[in-house]
Amino acid sequence: MRNNLNIILLGAPGAGKGTQAAVVAQELGLVHIATGDLFRQALEKGTGVAAQAKSYMEKGLLVPDEITIKMVLERISAPDCQSGVIFDGFPRNLKQAEALDKALAQKEDAIDKVVYIKVSEKELLERLGGRWICRKCQTPYHEVNSPPKVWGKCDKCGGELYQRPDDTTETVKKRLVVYFEETAPLIDYYTKAGKLLEIDGEGAVEEVAGRIVRGLRKEAIR
Ligand code: AP5
Ligand code: MG
Ligand code: ZN
Repeated sequence: MRNNLNIILLGAPGAGKGTQAAVVAQELGLVHIATGDLFRQALEKGTGVAAQAKSYMEKGLLVPDEITIKMVLERISAPDCQSGVIFDGFPRNLKQAEALDKALAQKEDAIDKVVYIKVSEKELLERLGGRWICRKCQTPYHEVNSPPKVWGKCDKCGGELYQRPDDTTETVKKRLVVYFEETAPLIDYYTKAGKLLEIDGEGAVEEVAGRIVRGLRKEAIR
């Protein structure tokens, strides 16, 4: 009998995966693993997968599976992940989903629930247009919806806030196309596996977080 909990947050660019993962990880005591954050941290330092990932991220395309899957499998083999993980931005296509299922099954582990955060396209564009993130800890802010206490500075770590280079109108459009073509089919994949939990992602951050945590508890997960 397993006593850990593994969750995936699924949703379009700007749906609030990063924002909600931080809240839910804290609430349920899970380790937050965000592939986009891991890639951006590598880019900041110019180390690891940086050179391989850069050109794909700039264009709004998926970083090749072999790089991404290897990075995630290494990360989840660390001891801190044993009590449970919340995945944000991974898996993003069927190949990644199958690789994750297989790797977890090998250690008699599994994904318990996939929270699909649903947000209208109009709202996604508004959110990404006003987003600023912390260079150090990756916390997302929004000019209007969730501004930092001191302009330009992260509330959590004091780091400098910046706008992601892939949040320009052109690249956002490309990221949305990639999402609908490659990632959205996972909604069906996890529905068939009986794991999908669809959540309305619109409304205040706390409201959405409440829906997610209540939804997970209702499924008697924890
Ligand atoms: P990644 O960093 O994962 O970007 P994404 O999926 O496009 O998602 P975002 O981070 O843009 O959105 P989010 O859902 O986290 O929203 P957030 O919480 O910030 O990936 C970037 C790139 O890395 C990819 O394009 C790819 O190149 C590569 N990559 C990553 N993973 C990969 C993988 N598995 N395979 C291959 N390549 C991969 O919120 C958005 C904004 O809205 C913020 O400003 C926030 O403050 C605001 N907001 C949040 N919630 C609310 C709310 N309830 N009301 C109002 N505003 C809100
Ligand atoms: Mg994110
Ligand atoms: Zn920070």
